[in-house]
Amino acid sequence: MIPHNRPTFNNDEINASDKVIRSGWVSQGNEVTLFEKELCNFFNLPEGHALAVSSGSAALYLSLWILGGRNKNIGLPVYACAALRNAIGLIEGNPIYYDCKIGTPNLDITKIDPNDIDILIAPSMFGIPLDIPNTHKYKVIEDIAQSFGAKFNNKRIGLRGDIGICSFYATKMITSGGQGGYY
Ligand SMILES: Cc1ncc(COP(=O)(O)O)c(C=O)c1O
Repeated sequence: MIPHNRPTFNNDEINASDKVIRSGWVSQGNEVTLFEKELCNFFNLPEGHALAVSSGSAALYLSLWILGGRNKNIGLPVYACAALRNAIGLIEGNPIYYDCKIGTPNLDITKIDPNDIDILIAPSMFGIPLDIPNTHKYKVIEDIAQSFGAKFNNKRIGLRGDIGICSFYATKMITSGGQGGYY
């Protein structure tokens, strides 16, 4: 079998999970709060602006819920993880698909008629940052599940939308141990 990817864990990570298991506290607890604080530091955000959830899918669904996605037209690329379409289905929104820009795995944002959508889920695929215009009529959920830590114009991406989401699934840049995400 050819593995999709192999997560790498060093001794620090092994010792950190050992500490958690030995503490007997393996659900929402101090380590999760510390992780949220680290995320805020990483993005230069005030404390309390990053919330850990169980997956990137949960982060997408909650973001759509916060933005009132029910019955709204929600844009997404034709080429992305199924989680985007699933979240739109769960919130009962209307998916509006956009093609990729030729030569890139990212959606062609110039093809969007701002009158056609209320919300856009905007992923940066394979670590390649999507160019998101500074002003947009619709709400944006910036999805950096595949591009955590990437920079565009020398600035870390993830804060260019109304809400930013990420996944810490096993195949992502960093993993919280199989499943995980934040928004
Ligand atoms: C671009 C993108 N968004 C969202 C998700 C969903 O994340 P998760 O697998 O943690 O639910 C994925 C991942 O698998 C993804 O690649």
